[in-house]
Amino acid sequence: MAALRYSLLLSFTLSALVSTVLAHNITDILSGFPEYSEFNKYLTQTKLADEINTRQTITVLALNNGAMSALAAKHPLSVIKNALSLLVVLDYFDPTKLHQISKGSTLSTTLYQTTGNAPGNLGFVNITDLQGGKVGFGSAAPGSKLESSYTKSVKQVPYNISILEISQPIIAPGILTAPAPTPSSVNMTALLEKAGCKTFASLLQTSGVIKMYQSAADKGLTIFAPNDEAFKAAGVPDLSKLTNAEVVSLLQYHATASYSPFGSLKN
Ligand SMILES: *[C@@H]1O[C@H](CO)[C@@H](O)[C@H](O)[C@H]1NC(C)=O
Ligand SMILES: *[C@@H]1O[C@H](CO)[C@@H](O)[C@H](O)[C@H]1NC(C)=O
Ligand SMILES: *[C@@H]1O[C@H](CO)[C@@H](O)[C@H](O)[C@H]1NC(C)=O
Ligand SMILES: *[C@@H]1O[C@H](CO)[C@@H](O)[C@H](O)[C@H]1NC(C)=O
Repeated sequence: MAALRYSLLLSFTLSALVSTVLAHNITDILSGFPEYSEFNKYLTQTKLADEINTRQTITVLALNNGAMSALAAKHPLSVIKNALSLLVVLDYFDPTKLHQISKGSTLSTTLYQTTGNAPGNLGFVNITDLQGGKVGFGSAAPGSKLESSYTKSVKQVPYNISILEISQPIIAPGILTAPAPTPSSVNMTALLEKAGCKTFASLLQTSGVIKMYQSAADKGLTIFAPNDEAFKAAGVPDLSKLTNAEVVSLLQYHATASYSPFGSLKN
C-alpha cells in the first residue's frame, strides 16, 4: 500500500462506507435505557446511529432526556445533527480511562470532524480530568470552557463501544448556527475518471462500493484516490487476484484511513 501515490484529494459527501459490516447497534443498546430515549430517537433521525454502528472503536457521550429535549427544542434537525456528532468520540474512553488521561487533558476527534463542516479543530473535544474526580468536556477551540461534565457510565463493551452520560451538550463555536450540508449530486465515477483515477473508479463500480458512496451523499468525507499509474507500481497487489470481499475491504481501508485523518493524535 505504501507504494500507492495519492494523486488526488477529493472532498465528497457520503455516509457509512460498508453498511453491511456493523460493529454495534447503538439503537438496540440504548433501548434498554429509557432515560436516553430522546437521545436515541435523535441518533436515528439524524442517521448518526448508522455511522456509530459502523465504527469499530467509539465512545458515545449521551444526553439524558432533559438535556436532549432542551437542545432539540431550540434547533432544527441539521443543527442537532452537528451538535450530536460532536458527542461521538472516535476513540474508546471508559470511566477508568477518563481518569487516566495522560497529563490530565487530551483532545479527541469526533464524528463532527469527519463531516467536513468543522473548520479548524472545531471537530475535536477537550477531555480534562479535573480535581476531585470530575471530568470536564468542552470544545477544543482555544478559550472554550469545559461546560459539560461526566455524570455516569451507561454501558461498555471493551474496547469497542463505550457510552457515557454527560451533563449537557458540548458547544463548539458556530455549531448551533452551522448551515445544513447541501446534498451532493456529483457523479463520482465521472469525476474520478476525469482526474485519471479510472482504475480506482472502476474498482468502486465493480465492487458495488460506489453505491454506498453515492446513495448517502449528505455527509462530508475525504477520499484519497490513487491514480492509474499508482496501481501499476511495484508492491501493489494484483487486483485481479483479489476476491470481491477483499476489494471491498481494501476500498474500505482506504477510505477509513482518511475518514479519521487525525488518528495519530489519539492517545
Ligand atoms: C438495531 O436495533 C433496533 C432495535 O432493537 C432494530 O430495530 C434495528 O433493526 C437494529 N438495526 C440493525 C441494523 O440491526
Ligand atoms: C482543555 O481545556 C482546558 C481549559 O480550557 C485547558 O486548560 C487545557 O489546556 C485544554 N487541553 C488541551 C489538551 O488543549
Ligand atoms: C469487539 O470488536 C472486535 C472486532 O470486531 C470483535 O472481534 C470482538 O468480539 C468485539 N468484542 C466484544 C466484546 O464484542
Ligand atoms: C457517471 O459517469 C459515468 C462515466 O462518465 C457514466 O457512465 C454514468 O452513467 C454516470 N452516472 C450517472 C448517474 O450519471
